[in-house]
Amino acid sequence: IAAALGTRSIVLVGMMGAGKSTIGRRVAARLKLPFTDADTEIEAAAGMTIPEIFETHGEPYFRDGEARVIARILDSGPIVLATGGGAFMREETRNRIRDRAISIWLKADSDIIMRRVRRRADRPLLHTADPEATVNRLLSEREPVYQNADLTIASRDVPHDRIVDECLEAL
Ligand code: S3P
Repeated sequence: IAAALGTRSIVLVGMMGAGKSTIGRRVAARLKLPFTDADTEIEAAAGMTIPEIFETHGEPYFRDGEARVIARILDSGPIVLATGGGAFMREETRNRIRDRAISIWLKADSDIIMRRVRRRADRPLLHTADPEATVNRLLSEREPVYQNADLTIASRDVPHDRIVDECLEAL
């Protein structure tokens, strides 16, 4: 697989809680490629956590920084990259990903997403009165766009290695 990829990277897209970082890290290990998490890189570049960036500068500022960081990471490929759930919504970012990588949509339903994000306070978009309604609205806005990824793998409650195997088989 690594040889067939050439200089292209693998980019995981999909909703928060879909498992992009967990699965991405394991896919990278299996392919002996470096793993990068876009959110972690954004936090390092800003010297702030993602909730702090949203609070201090607002979402549009975060999105601009996110697009720049992803462009820079893709230039350093080949790597496996986990992106934040909103990154693929920007056309410029989708085009860059299409040029330089194979994209995998880790598709998760709202039950799984809710279960996985409920435990954590680090998703500023879900700091709303009704997080479940927010997740459902984001899903309906985003799924038609995530569908443009090269590959789709269902993220569900099976051992991580099974999802990793499915990603590797699909590549
Ligand atoms: C976001 C998802 C988060 C993070 C930010 C916004 C989104 O990343 O980038 O909170 O718009 O869905 P994860 O998908 O890794 O949680």
